[in-house]
Amino acid sequence: MLLMLIAISGSVSVGTIIHAQVTLSRQLFYGPLSFIHEEGTRIHWAARFGSKYYHSTTYPGSNFNYTFQGKQYENVLPDQISKFVVMTDIHQNNQYTSTMTTDYDFAVFCGDYSSSGKVAEFSRAFSKMPTKPLLMAMGNHDEPGNFSQVNGREKNFFQKVRNLGFYFIHVQQGTPIVDAEVDRGIQFILDNINLGVQSDHVFIVVHHPVFSTGEFGSHQYFSQKIEQLITDHPELKIRATFSGHDHMFSAFQKGSQFFFVNGAGGGGIDQMTDPSYGVRQWPSEELHGPQSIVADNCYGYDLHLDSWMKFTRTEINFEPGKIVYNVRDLDSDVILKSYEQPI
Ligand SMILES: *[C@@H]1O[C@H](CO)[C@@H](O)[C@H](O)[C@H]1NC(C)=O
Ligand SMILES: *[C@@H]1O[C@H](CO)[C@@H](O)[C@H](O)[C@H]1NC(C)=O
Repeated sequence: MLLMLIAISGSVSVGTIIHAQVTLSRQLFYGPLSFIHEEGTRIHWAARFGSKYYHSTTYPGSNFNYTFQGKQYENVLPDQISKFVVMTDIHQNNQYTSTMTTDYDFAVFCGDYSSSGKVAEFSRAFSKMPTKPLLMAMGNHDEPGNFSQVNGREKNFFQKVRNLGFYFIHVQQGTPIVDAEVDRGIQFILDNINLGVQSDHVFIVVHHPVFSTGEFGSHQYFSQKIEQLITDHPELKIRATFSGHDHMFSAFQKGSQFFFVNGAGGGGIDQMTDPSYGVRQWPSEELHGPQSIVADNCYGYDLHLDSWMKFTRTEINFEPGKIVYNVRDLDSDVILKSYEQPI
C-alpha cells in the first residue's frame, strides 16, 4: 500500500489550497478525470482500496493547477468557449479516447463507456484519456450506481458551461425505449426550463437517438416529443441534440435544429438497418439526403442529411455569427462534412 497525496492549488487571486489525502493500494484504474460541475470541478479517479473503487475531490473553480501522483496537471475552462467535441459508445475500447487530439475546450460523451457497467470496463475506456474537462450522459450499458459514482450525477441533469446550456437526459428502460421514460426525460427539461433560457446556446444530450438510420433507428414517440419541445419553447435556444447507441454517424436537420448520432467511439460499427424489417435496409456504408422508401416505419427520415458507418467525433466550433459542426473520421483524421448553423 502506498500513500498518495493529491494537492490542488487555486489561482493566485483566490489563493485557495486544498489538500486531500487518500490512501490507496498500488493499482490506479483510471484518472484523474475532470468533470464540469455546478459547484466547480470534480477530479475523479478509481483505485482499489478494499471495496472502495471511486475517489473524488471537488475544487470550487475551473482554472487551477494540481499535482496527482507526482504529475502536474492544468485544468482550464476558458471564459469564452470556442470548441467542444462529442464522442460516444466507447464500450471499454480506449483506441480512440487514448489518441484524442486535445485542441478543444471540453468533451461531451453520450453514454456506453462500459459493456456491463463494471469499474474495470470504465477503467479500460478512460485509462489513457487526456485530462480535459468532461461531461457525460448515461448509456443503457452503464449501471446507474456506478455512473453516479464516476460522474457525481443523476441520470437527468442540467449543466451550464459559460454561455452554453446542456440538458442530459436518459430515456431508456427496455428495447424499444419506453414512452413513460421519454415523458420523464422531457418533463425534466420542462421542469428546468428556467435554467436553459439563460444560455445563448442549448444542447440536449441523450444516449438514445432522436433520429437515426442505424439499427435502433428513430423512435417515433421520442422524436415527436422532442420536436414538440422545440416548437413549444422557442425561448430555449436549442441548437442540436447529441446521441449515440447506434454505432455510426447520422445527421438530421429540422428547421434550424440539428440531430446527431455521434458515431462509434470504439465499440464496433453498426449497420444501417431498421429493426422493424430485421434486414439491412440500405446496402451502403454511407447515405446522403432524405430517405423515403420506408416512410411509414421510418419516422423523420425525410429530415436525413448524411450517415456513415465510421468511427467519428463531432466537433462544435463557435464562430462569428454561426456554429460549425465538423464530423471527423477518427481513423483517417479527415473532416467528412461541415454543417453550418447561422446564429
Ligand atoms: C498553471 O501552470 C501554468 C504553467 O505550467 C501557468 O502558465 C498557469 O498560469 C497556471 N495556472 C494557474 C491557474 O495557476
Ligand atoms: C459497479 O461496478 C462493480 C464493480 O465492477 C460491479 O460489481 C457492479 O455490478 C457495478 N454496478 C453497480 C450498480 O454497482
